[in-house]
Formats: sequence, C-alpha cells, structure tokens
Amino acid sequence: MKVIMLGAPGAGKGTQAKRLAQEFSIPHISTGDIFRANIKGGTELGKKAQGYMDAGQLVPDELVCDLVVDRIAQEDARNGYVLDGFPRTIPQAEALEAALKKKGENVDYAVNIDVPDEAIVDRMSGRRACTNCGATYHIVYNAPKIADVCDVCGNKLIIRDDDKPETVLNRLSVYHKQTQPLIDYYEERGLVVNVDGTKDMDAVFAEILEKIGK
Ligand code: AP5
Repeated sequence: MKVIMLGAPGAGKGTQAKRLAQEFSIPHISTGDIFRANIKGGTELGKKAQGYMDAGQLVPDELVCDLVVDRIAQEDARNGYVLDGFPRTIPQAEALEAALKKKGENVDYAVNIDVPDEAIVDRMSGRRACTNCGATYHIVYNAPKIADVCDVCGNKLIIRDDDKPETVLNRLSVYHKQTQPLIDYYEERGLVVNVDGTKDMDAVFAEILEKIGK
C-alpha cells in the first residue's frame, strides 16, 4: 500500500504516518527526517537544506524529488510505504506520479489530516523531538514518561529550530500557498481521504483505518 500524508505543519502527519507504517509493516519515509539527519551529519545535502528549513521555506524541488524516487525504489519499499512531507508542491507530485507510472503503479491514498491554523501553533510549541531515534512527543497530549527524555532510547529531547512561533507562522503561510493545492490535485484523481485531525491521536488513527477500509 502506498500512502501520502497531507496536512499543515504540525497537523499530525508524522504521528499518524509512524502508526500506519507499523500497522502495515511498510517503511515510514519522512523527507523532513531525511533532511534533519543530513544536517546532523553535516552532509552537502544538509548544508544546502538548512537555510531553507530554518526560515520555514521549502527546500527546492530539485533537492527533494530524486532523493525520494531513489528511496522508494529500495528493497524495503517493494510492498509500499507511507510518504510523510512529500510531495509538497505540484512539481513534486508530478515527479512522483511519473516515477510510479514507469512501473505501472500509483498512489493508493492521500490522507489529508485537517487541523485549523489556530490549533497548530499550540501543537508546535509543545512538541519535543528525539534527534537520535526520531520519536516525537507533546508536553501535554503525548508526554514522555520523564520530562525531556525519550521513552524509546533515553536521549535528551529537543525543541526543533523551526518550531519557534514566528517560523511556524511562516511555515503555515508556505503550506497554504504551495502545499494545499495538492489536495485538489489528489481529489481530481479520487485519492483523498479527509480526516478530522483535531481529535485525539488514537481517534485520528481509528478514523484513518476506517476510511481506508482496514
Ligand atoms: P517536516 O519535518 O515534514 O515538517 P512539517 O510538514 O512542517 O510537519 P511537522 O513534522 O512539523 O508536523 P507533523 O504534521 O508531522 O506533526 P507531528 O506528528 O509531529 O518538514 C520540515 C521542513 O523540511 C520543511 O519546512 C521544509 O523546509 C523541509 N522539507 C521537508 N520535506 C520537504 C519537501 N518535500 N519539499 C521541500 N521541503 C521539504 O505532530 C505535531 C505535534 O502535535 C507533536 O508534538 C505531536 O505529539 C502533536 N500531535 C499530533 N497529533 C495530535 C493530536 N491528534 N492531538 C494532539 N496533539 C497531537
């Protein structure tokens, strides 16, 4: 099964993508995580991406598309994947569609997690992330057992650089201009599954599973 996660920054795409990936035993592929790992590792890609990410802008399409097309061609993705944070622009969606078409494949679902802008800043300000294993928490809605310590690997949790309120507002504006049009793109292809992302995490997951017929 090939699933795309759509939704504003902080809507809960990563949270639900990890659960879906586990449920269906397929990889969770997050372009944000890939960039953050490259920044941490000091790679050329990381150096190129960092300025855009810190400013809340999108990384240019040419740095993203080949990377994802290569990733989904790997062995562990042969039975499908959950794409989280890609595509984010119409050219990215077209690049994905073209790559899949060559293999006679298509995306199965574009899950759109709907959360109003007002709720987003609150979610982002409470998010804590583990840079070691990628686990994500919220200080109120999904708190770690020990404050600022990852339940999974024991690493210290951090606040992401791009979760500052002014950067979050910029990311929201970029989302509305460049990524929201993808909802129409996938609606035209009959692939959109709309989910109410304001409910608690378990209820959102249950709604996704129900709507994709699991
Ligand atoms: P990326 O890492 O993809 O960030 P994003 O899309 O802005 O999404 P987030 O990770 O911030 O949020 P999320 O929707 O995954 O929410 P989460 O589950 O964590 O991208 C970062 C940057 O990388 C971009 O700005 C861009 O620069 C670059 N980039 C990445 N991909 C790119 C691409 N394809 N093209 C160009 N540039 C790209 O949840 C958020 C918080 O809310 C958490 O604390 C969570 O615990 C909590 N939460 C989740 N669900 C609920 C719920 N139901 N109720 C209450 N709290 C909840």
